[in-house]
Amino acid sequence: MSKPLWTFKEALVATDGYDAGNGDPDLTSVSIDSRTVETGALFVAIRGDNLDGHAYVAKAFEAGAAAALVSEDIEPKIDGVLIRVPDTLEALNQLGAAARERSSARVIAVTGSVGKTGTKEALRLALGASGTVHASEKSYNNHWGVPLTLANFARDNDFGVFEVGMNHPGEIIPLTKLVRPHVAIITTVASVHLEFFATEEQIAKAKAEIFSGLEPGGTAILNRDNPHFEFLKKCASDSGVEHIITFGSHHEADAKLESLTPDGNASDVGAIIAGEKISYRVGAPGRHLVMNSLAVLAALHASGADIQAGAKALGTYHAQAGRGARLQFEIEDGRVLLIDESYNANPASMLAALESLGETPRAQFTRRIAVLGDMLEMGNTSFQLHGELAQPVDAAGVDVVFACGPHMRALYDALPESRRGAYAGNSKGLEDALLDAVQAGDAIMIKGSLGSAMGPLVEALRKHLQQLGAQPV
Ligand SMILES: Nc1ncnc2c1ncn2[C@@H]1O[C@H](COP(=O)(O)OP(=O)(O)O)[C@@H](O)[C@H]1O
Ligand SMILES: [Mg+2]
Repeated sequence: MSKPLWTFKEALVATDGYDAGNGDPDLTSVSIDSRTVETGALFVAIRGDNLDGHAYVAKAFEAGAAAALVSEDIEPKIDGVLIRVPDTLEALNQLGAAARERSSARVIAVTGSVGKTGTKEALRLALGASGTVHASEKSYNNHWGVPLTLANFARDNDFGVFEVGMNHPGEIIPLTKLVRPHVAIITTVASVHLEFFATEEQIAKAKAEIFSGLEPGGTAILNRDNPHFEFLKKCASDSGVEHIITFGSHHEADAKLESLTPDGNASDVGAIIAGEKISYRVGAPGRHLVMNSLAVLAALHASGADIQAGAKALGTYHAQAGRGARLQFEIEDGRVLLIDESYNANPASMLAALESLGETPRAQFTRRIAVLGDMLEMGNTSFQLHGELAQPVDAAGVDVVFACGPHMRALYDALPESRRGAYAGNSKGLEDALLDAVQAGDAIMIKGSLGSAMGPLVEALRKHLQQLGAQPV
């Protein structure tokens, strides 16, 4: 039998913990959430801003945890195998570091203003054609997400893919030093979290922190089309990065887009990856996903993985829930397409989402509807940035806009009367007007920051369509 993720002894040594329990079970996963604990897991009790995991240790054992990692200062009245440490988050980091240390996998880190999760999922698919892949769950990219992902890194995985995120300068440094990637991708730099940064260049600088953890001889993968490319390149050189691979449609890009043919559901791509001509299909629509795929293939090249097989695997790529996932419904006179972009929004991903909406075939979907909620954390240029969406709305041939939130008012006011569907202060207030308007032949894209609560509108629309007797297709 192959070795477990962690033997009890290994976990004890890695965390400098002491054995306060009775037994030494094999630990087959590491979890910080008692609701998703699997049998055989090591439950790590983390003290968060709102909740303290120590309150859930008993639940974790009920759910099948084999052991728990707890703070030494909690009462010893817990039935079960315990490892006690001074600081459980620090111990999780130590476990992550130990997993990285013992691994001989090729390790890829993904950061960027947008496209981290999508690129990470595309890497999971593409690398899967060359070996076993361990990749971050969801968007586990912060001070607990990264060490947790590492702590679950099996000793015999061939590849590791880690999403690394940040809201503030300095956050990426400890994360990348933990991940120690061989390959670091910066998908793109754009105005996101502007509240915490004075300029976009400062955002670029914070992304460039990823280089500080790059292994000697490692590779940086940079977006050649991004206005901050030269700056990032300089940051990489200053950090001693030995190899830089660029991707994009720029004629100097190493992973270069040659042709892109969208068909509404997917994109057919022609590209040159490190001198090799290659044709492939990205299984979900949107030029932004094609650009991400070039970074993916560049990373495959840098990791010694099979590029052709990886590219082929991208044909089965699907957008994730809330990030462009598509649902089609058959109703009485035709179809309705629902594009769920409710997970987040910023100017860059708004542009991408509007552009994809603009690619939906008119023959099938005669009306394009954008349902837009506020992009949050946009700082003092927020109203301007919202108002400026009028141009991409126009360029995408969007027929009707439903808008909600105080900031999206700026867009609504900038639209010609003919494009105005309805406006409301919040997403709930938009529901009735939207449900009244929807009809066969509509392609409806719903997008906003998570805090703008556009997800409930997606749900309401889905329910409404089902009540009309619509069948998901
Ligand atoms: N390269 C890109 N440029 C612009 N938008 C993108 C790009 N990649 C993904 N997106 C869009 O941005 C949103 C967030 O994507 P995601 O992959 O979850 O990014 P992150 O993990 O960085 O938040 C989605 O709506 C997605 O369609
Ligand atoms: Mg993410």
